[in-house]
Amino acid sequence: MNEINQTQYVPTLSASDYHCSSRYADELNAIFNQQWIYVLHASQLPDKGSYETFNIADKPILISCGADDVIRAFYNVCVHRGHILVQGSGTATHFTCPYHAWTYHFDGRLRGAPGVPHVADLPECNQQLVGIETRVTNGFVFVRLNPGADDFEQCYGKFFGELGERLPALDQLRFAKRFVAEVDGNWKIMVENYLECYHCTPTHEALSDLMCIKDYQFQQSEYYLSTWAPAGRPDNKAYAYTLNEGSQRKFSGWWLWPNTTFNIFPGQQNLLVFHMLPLSSERSIGYCDYFFIDGKVDEEAEALMDWEGNVLEKEDNDLIVSAHKGMKSNAIRNGVFVIDGVRQYISEGPLAHFNQLIQRTLDGAGLKK
Ligand code: FES
Ligand SMILES: [Fe+2]
Repeated sequence: MNEINQTQYVPTLSASDYHCSSRYADELNAIFNQQWIYVLHASQLPDKGSYETFNIADKPILISCGADDVIRAFYNVCVHRGHILVQGSGTATHFTCPYHAWTYHFDGRLRGAPGVPHVADLPECNQQLVGIETRVTNGFVFVRLNPGADDFEQCYGKFFGELGERLPALDQLRFAKRFVAEVDGNWKIMVENYLECYHCTPTHEALSDLMCIKDYQFQQSEYYLSTWAPAGRPDNKAYAYTLNEGSQRKFSGWWLWPNTTFNIFPGQQNLLVFHMLPLSSERSIGYCDYFFIDGKVDEEAEALMDWEGNVLEKEDNDLIVSAHKGMKSNAIRNGVFVIDGVRQYISEGPLAHFNQLIQRTLDGAGLKK
C-alpha cells in the first residue's frame, strides 16, 4: 500500500462545537449527566468517615466511606433548602450543613435538625440525601448521575483485565499525590490531545526520550483506547529510573469514554489516573492522581511526578489553550484528522472515533448535534 492510499482525512467537529454554550449544555446533559464518570480510587478515602467532594457537570457530588466501609456517593446538597453540604475533603463522624445545622449520617439519612423533634415527621424526600449510583471496580470508583449509559461491564470490563495484566501490583497501589490544573480550553480539545501521539515528537522533547515514539501503537475498542510504546533509556530527559525484575519496560495508557485516562510509566510499578472535566464551554479542569505501591514516594517516584505534573502537563496544557483560541477565532470552520492506517504514532484515528461516540450519544439522547 503506498503512502497516499494509507492516509485518510476526516473532518473534526465544527469549530463552534468547541466553544458554543448550547452545544456545551447538550454535552453536559447527554454525556456527563448520563455516562459512567470516574471520580476517585478507594485509597483516596483511607478511613471510615473519609469524604471527598467533586463537581460533575456543575453538579456537586459527595463521596464518602461509611463506618461499614461502604463507599457511597450523594449529591452534596442539603435537602432542607439546598445549601452545599460540605466543602473539600476530610474525615468526620457525620455531616453538618452550615446553613441551619441539619446533620446527616454517612449513609445519607438525616440525623437531626434543630427545632424538629422527630425527623420522621418531615416529608420523606427531606429525610435523606439524594444518592447517586456508584460502581467500584478494583478500588476505582465511578458514578452515573442518571441511567443512560451502556452497562458498565460491557463498556469497561475488558479494560480492567488489560490493566491487571499490565500492572501486576494493581492491588497494592495506593494514592500518593494529586496535581490539579485548570485550563482555558474546551474539554473535548483536552481529551483529543490525549488521544494521539502525532504531537509527541514536535512538542514533548523529554517524553520522546523516555519512550520510543515511532513504536507507539494503539488498539481501539468501542468505549476505550489502549496505547503502548516501548521505553527508551532509563537515564533519559524526563526522569531517571532503575530497571529491575519487576520494572515497567514500556509506557501503557488507556482512555476510557468519555474523560478518563489510566497511565503506567516506565520504571517502578506506578499508575497515573488523569481525568478531565468541563467547568464551562471554554474552561476545563484536569486531575492527575498518582498511585504507587503502598502510596510510597521514593526519589524515582518524586522525579516522575515532578516531570509529569510540571513539564508534560504544562506542555499539553499550552497546546490545548492555543488550539482552543484558534477554534474560536472564526478562521477555521472545522479542522481535519489525519488518519494513517499504518503508522499509528502519527494517526489521529482515535479522535475520529471519539467524535463519533459524542455524535451517537447526543443523537441517542435526542440532542441532535
Ligand atoms: S439548607 Fe441545610 S440546614 Fe438549611
Ligand atoms: Fe501531549
